[in-house]
Formats: sequence, structure tokens, C-alpha cells
Amino acid sequence: MKIAILGGTGSIGEGFALRWAAKHEILVCSREIDKAVNAAGEYTGMLLNKGVVCCGITGCNNEAAIEDSDVVVLSVPYQGVISLLKKLAPFFKNQIVISLVVPMKKNKLFEYTPPKQGSAALEIQEILSKSVKVVSAYHNVSAKKLANLELALDYDVVVCGDDNEAKKTVMELTREIKSLRPLDGGGLASSYMIESLTPFLINLAIRNGLSDLGVKFV
Ligand SMILES: NC(=O)c1ccc[n+]([C@@H]2O[C@H](COP(=O)([O-])OP(=O)(O)OC[C@H]3O[C@@H](n4cnc5c(N)ncnc54)[C@H](OP(=O)(O)O)[C@@H]3O)[C@@H](O)[C@H]2O)c1
Repeated sequence: MKIAILGGTGSIGEGFALRWAAKHEILVCSREIDKAVNAAGEYTGMLLNKGVVCCGITGCNNEAAIEDSDVVVLSVPYQGVISLLKKLAPFFKNQIVISLVVPMKKNKLFEYTPPKQGSAALEIQEILSKSVKVVSAYHNVSAKKLANLELALDYDVVVCGDDNEAKKTVMELTREIKSLRPLDGGGLASSYMIESLTPFLINLAIRNGLSDLGVKFV
């Protein structure tokens, strides 16, 4: 598959590019083409150093990458993603869009701040046309751990979405990342529950002197 990672130059975008590049063609996207090309070169070099043969990591601008992809990962902070998508909406057709976006703010601790639609995922689906299949996943996965290819991520990933085929594809992509277990979390309307876990996990880590907490259901 061709996977475009919007915000692929950032913290968690890097991990997805590194983890999926062995099996998929990766388009690292940015608002600035030079930044995208540099990041793509850096990720390719990191994989070569580890002896991983990849299907190709290319730096692209957001518009070209969306038009050319099967799956688009939204790896952009909530504060920027809504205005970005309003601009980019005409370039989407029927792609699967993975939202890992968590609307939150920091006061003393972190707080979930959903939009009026109820979650970032529902707001994003409202902006994009109905033919675009938004799937919500990976909100509770640590960027640092994802980018460390030596690490098996012993986490569960709850996947929410209204299109069963799209949800199945995202669950397959999840299984390709060492030790991640995808769990069907129901429709997109359930996304708020899993989005809101992220600030809770960060607060839990702060209070207990831990870091990079994830979720495992046993
Ligand atoms: N970090 C984590 O551990 C983690 C875990 C789970 C979920 N998430 C979610 O994943 C998303 C990305 O998180 P991150 O930590 O990777 O973010 P980040 O590193 O701060 O930003 C990622 C990329 O987003 C683009 N960006 C930043 N601000 C923007 C704006 N105002 N408008 C448009 N584009 C902007 C930038 O790309 P360009 O400048 O190249 O365009 C940047 O490299 C967030 O929604 C977050 O809630 C993060």
C-alpha cells in the first residue's frame, strides 16, 4: 500500500514511517517540501543502517501525497489539524484516514478538550467527504517506543471506525508492528473514550514517576 503520513516529520510520524517501510511505500509529508525530503532521507538512512530493505520512503508535499495514497495518517497536533484538513479536503477521494489526534490542553495536568462533535475523529470525518473512511487508532502509543525498532510494543491498540473494511485494514497494519494487538473498539462515535485516555495516561505517568505508558487489556 501507499501510506502518506501528514506530519511525518514529527515525533510519532517517524515511528510509523520506520515501522511500515519494510512492507509499504511511505510518503513523508510536510507543509514544507525540503523538510519532508530531509526527514525521508534520514529515515531511509536509519533503516539502511539496521539492514532493513524498505519499499521506498519519499518526501512529499501534503497535497500530492494525499492524491497518490491508499492510507493517510494524520500525525499532526489537534491545534493544527483542523485548519490543515479544511485546506486539504479537496485532495481526498476515498482513502482510509487514520486519526491518532488527541485534543488536549495542559493546565496543572493534562485535560481532554473534545470539540462539539464529541471527538477529534468525528470532527475530522465531518470535514472530509463521506467517501473518505476515517478510522481512529494509536492514541495511546508512545512515539519514543514506536521509533525504537528493537522494541516489541506490548500494547493494545483500540481501533474505532464506521467502515468495517477500513477498520480491518488498520487492524492488519497494527499487527505488522511487533507485538501490538489491535482490538475492535466499535464505531467512530466511540473514539472519544480512547482519545481521552491519553491525557489520563500522561497524568498517571507524571504522578507516579513513569514514562511512555500504554494500554493493555487483560
Ligand atoms: N507524540 C506522541 O507520543 C503521540 C502519541 C499518540 C498520539 N499522538 C498524536 O499524534 C499527533 C502528532 O503528535 P506529535 O507528537 O508527533 O506532534 P509534533 O511532533 O508536535 O508535530 C507533528 C508534525 O505536525 C506538523 N504540525 C505541527 N504544528 C502544526 C500546525 N499548527 N499546523 C499544521 N501542521 C502542524 C509538523 O509538520 P510540518 O511542519 O513538517 O508540516 C510537525 O512535524 C497529535 O495529534 C497527537 O495527539 C502523539
